[in-house]
Amino acid sequence: GAQAVEHDDDLFEQELRKANAEMINENFANALRAFNTLTHTYAHIPAAHLQRARALELVAERQRSNRLLLDAVESYKRYLAFGELIANHTEYRAAGESCIQQLRFLGHMQQAVSVHEQLIERFPAEAHLRNQLSLTHLMSNNLAQLQQVAGATLKLWPRNPVANLHFGLALKQLRGDYAQALPYLQLAIDSQAPGTQEPYFYLALGETLQRLGKQSQALQLYKRGAEQRFFASVYQRSLYNVPRLRAKSFWQPAETGHALELEQLQQNWRRIRNEALALLSSQGNFQQEAEQLRDTGNWQQYELYARGERLLGNCQRAPITCGLLEKFTAASSCRRGQIKFSAMQAQTHVWPHCGPTNCRLRAHLTLVAPEPHLTNLRVAEQQRTWREGDLFIFDDSFEHEVWHNGSQLRLVLIVDFWHPDLSAAQRRSLAPI
Ligand code: LMR
Ligand code: MN
Repeated sequence: GAQAVEHDDDLFEQELRKANAEMINENFANALRAFNTLTHTYAHIPAAHLQRARALELVAERQRSNRLLLDAVESYKRYLAFGELIANHTEYRAAGESCIQQLRFLGHMQQAVSVHEQLIERFPAEAHLRNQLSLTHLMSNNLAQLQQVAGATLKLWPRNPVANLHFGLALKQLRGDYAQALPYLQLAIDSQAPGTQEPYFYLALGETLQRLGKQSQALQLYKRGAEQRFFASVYQRSLYNVPRLRAKSFWQPAETGHALELEQLQQNWRRIRNEALALLSSQGNFQQEAEQLRDTGNWQQYELYARGERLLGNCQRAPITCGLLEKFTAASSCRRGQIKFSAMQAQTHVWPHCGPTNCRLRAHLTLVAPEPHLTNLRVAEQQRTWREGDLFIFDDSFEHEVWHNGSQLRLVLIVDFWHPDLSAAQRRSLAPI
């Protein structure tokens, strides 16, 4: 009867207070035991599951335990499953959002999607919740879903900034349709609304403008990005940066601290060239550039080192080059770079782009050069061309663009090496890129 239930509730409240007291005293093991008992004994009370979820979440974060976090997620889900029985909208929504946040962190995107859908069904008038769903799709690079969800949100709220952003990103990434993407991305970034002001989104709009030939608008946007400290400067737009490293487009060998190693490579340029040409002469050794940076033409590469690791098979087929590189440890150990042969055929244009990090410098040792007046590398506002046996160094975190309007092959050895301002400890601790 009613009295028994009331009694039950009193006991529940008592047990809950005890469990929370253990949390406050940081007796986490006791607390979690108490919450387990609570959810077993009072499985029919939503608050038991919610409180257990919150406690587990806290302990999981303190102990950096994904196992406990997964347990927290399970508790959230059991709470959310009560659905309409939970009258407190705010608490329900907040629990759903926490659950989604943890599922995203754990990489369980599909599970996150079903929690999103539960929230959207309960609060169909909240655009924010749909934008959260499309963000999950964006984070997991589910571009078709991204387009579908953001498109549906736009039908209901055509001027919603985040929905515009997400829809524009989908058009750009999924279909490469820059012209169609532009108005959506522009509206979103210009709105300055929360959820739209991130470096990555500025880069997406900037790239869109550049590919549509709107160079001065792109530079204006990058200027705004630099003012907000999204980018180191208008032209230097890498996102994985160490602050205060010297930054300029081109470097002299002597400035890098590696003049000797670079000189060694350069002196052997003919032997390196012969090795690269032999590899290039048989099909399948070189791979097509895969980052969609190419506008027109043909551009292939043959990797020797990536992220500070020697590519064993490829190096076995280029023993002279790899033997020389072995002595250049700032290059061979550079976990934020690559070493590769880069073969570019005539009539190739590479769109303006920036490398991902300011932690490396990039040397080009020219092995085969076409007509110098018809080829050109632009880095920020400076230009260079390739000459056989020549070596130059640039910082590829700065915007760069390549034109090859000549008639012959252009073949270079690209050697990334650690930025000289990075300490040994930094080189050891930086995550690979
Ligand atoms: C680049 O980094 O995009 C260029 O240096 C590549 C190339 O082969 O010219
Ligand atoms: Mn590049």
